[in-house]
Amino acid sequence: MFLTIELTINGQKKKLAAKPGQTLLSFLRELGYTGVKEGCGKGECGACTVLVDGQPVNACLYLAVQAQGKEILTIEGLAQQGRLHPLQEAFISESALQCGYCTPGMILTAKALLDKNPRASEEEIAHAIAGNLCRCTGYSKIIKAIKKAGEVMADNVRI
Ligand code: FES
Ligand code: FES
Repeated sequence: MFLTIELTINGQKKKLAAKPGQTLLSFLRELGYTGVKEGCGKGECGACTVLVDGQPVNACLYLAVQAQGKEILTIEGLAQQGRLHPLQEAFISESALQCGYCTPGMILTAKALLDKNPRASEEEIAHAIAGNLCRCTGYSKIIKAIKKAGEVMADNVRI
């Protein structure tokens, strides 16, 4: 049995069939949004983070049918017209990724923070990404990259 849900993914309205009990993580990956990563599968690592109506959500703990009527943003939807988001630019320029497995979830969590508060302090950034685990980088470059992206975003708003 399938349930039909209507939702928006990366700005595109869609009407799709989901299995009852299917996680948003599995649903999105089956649709080809493989930037959504599966780590622990139980809400502990943040690798599966997507934005649901602008809020970070662990897609492994969220049912696809709960996304009815909601707006989902995955890492695939972040670049606009071929231009990387300031967070993507900053992660590259600050060498804030190694294996990259945590990066989509980390960037989306950071986006939710910076959209509200682009001038977030390093402490606020560290607090915001506390649910996103990285096994490679030691976090300091990630925090630096998020801070730098916030400055770019704040300047863009001022223009
Ligand atoms: S895979 Fe969802 S929190 Fe780890
Ligand atoms: S860059 Fe490898 S887990 Fe974060």
